[in-house]
Amino acid sequence: MPKTIATAPGKIILFGEHAVVYGQPAIAAPVSQVRATAVIQNSPTPGIRLIAPDLGSNILLSDANANDAVAAVVVQLQSAAQLQELPDLTITVSSQIPIASGLGSGAAITAAVIRALATHLGLSHLLSDEWVSDQTYEIEKIHHGTPSGIDNTVVAYERPVYFVRQQPRNRIEPFTVAQPLRLLVADTGIRSNTKDVVGDVRRQWQQDTATFDTIFAECGRIANTARKAIEKGNVIHIGQLMTENHILLQKMTVSEPTLDELVAVALAAGALGAKLSGAGRGGNMIALVDEEREPSVYDALLSVKAKNVLTTIIHPTN
Ligand code: PMV
Repeated sequence: MPKTIATAPGKIILFGEHAVVYGQPAIAAPVSQVRATAVIQNSPTPGIRLIAPDLGSNILLSDANANDAVAAVVVQLQSAAQLQELPDLTITVSSQIPIASGLGSGAAITAAVIRALATHLGLSHLLSDEWVSDQTYEIEKIHHGTPSGIDNTVVAYERPVYFVRQQPRNRIEPFTVAQPLRLLVADTGIRSNTKDVVGDVRRQWQQDTATFDTIFAECGRIANTARKAIEKGNVIHIGQLMTENHILLQKMTVSEPTLDELVAVALAAGALGAKLSGAGRGGNMIALVDEEREPSVYDALLSVKAKNVLTTIIHPTN
């Protein structure tokens, strides 16, 4: 039986999470070595079967409940492509990206299913990165309430982006990376729900709009300065800006003790900068390192509370 396979990467937010929801610029990059994979096959039995071996789940689309992430993607694609009916299929989804950890696992699974399913159904003419991003965004809205759109953009385009949420179209600008950026990504092991954290920040913003608007504007200034530093290859300055961004995230109350400890330990072991990445209250932190200090920062992160540490390099662009 012919198979159609597609994958999508994880992502980290280098600058501007949360503030990006309020129209400030943010910078994010794919983490290509951890990926979500979708495999589509025609099925000899009736219906569309959704299989997620990692979760031990195997159900028919017709039996899926309203919260089923993959079922929602299939329904979304059928409606976007205006297909009257779908053939009998099995859709198998797996992911190396830890869930609820700020690495964009939900967006990556959605993007992988959209790419695989659209290819399998002969809809390749629809499959631009922009279209995959837009379709993924529709699903992100179901899970996250008010997503900025940065996660779906990075996993669909799979390149570093400077992103501003705006109407009628988001501003998505690729930019030059002058020097390789070597990052350690450390998992607190604490799962955190993006929708809850984003909702809590919104409540605080409603209660104290002036303070939060000032914090968000400062995050935006940092993201803009960081973009210039990345374009010039000023790695020391990029690191300093990451640590400044972490302090602003603490002010938003989205950090927590394990994230703060990992940031402090990374800096003490020689990281150029460190911050939480993603929604916060758990999930992952990132540390910018040079080649020389990488082993000591790696060991330091694992010796305290990191459950897992991976290295990712953002490569220079032309
Ligand atoms: O935790 P993640 O990977 O879902 O990242 C969320 C990023 C936020 O800025 C907090 C929310 C958003 O939609 O941009």
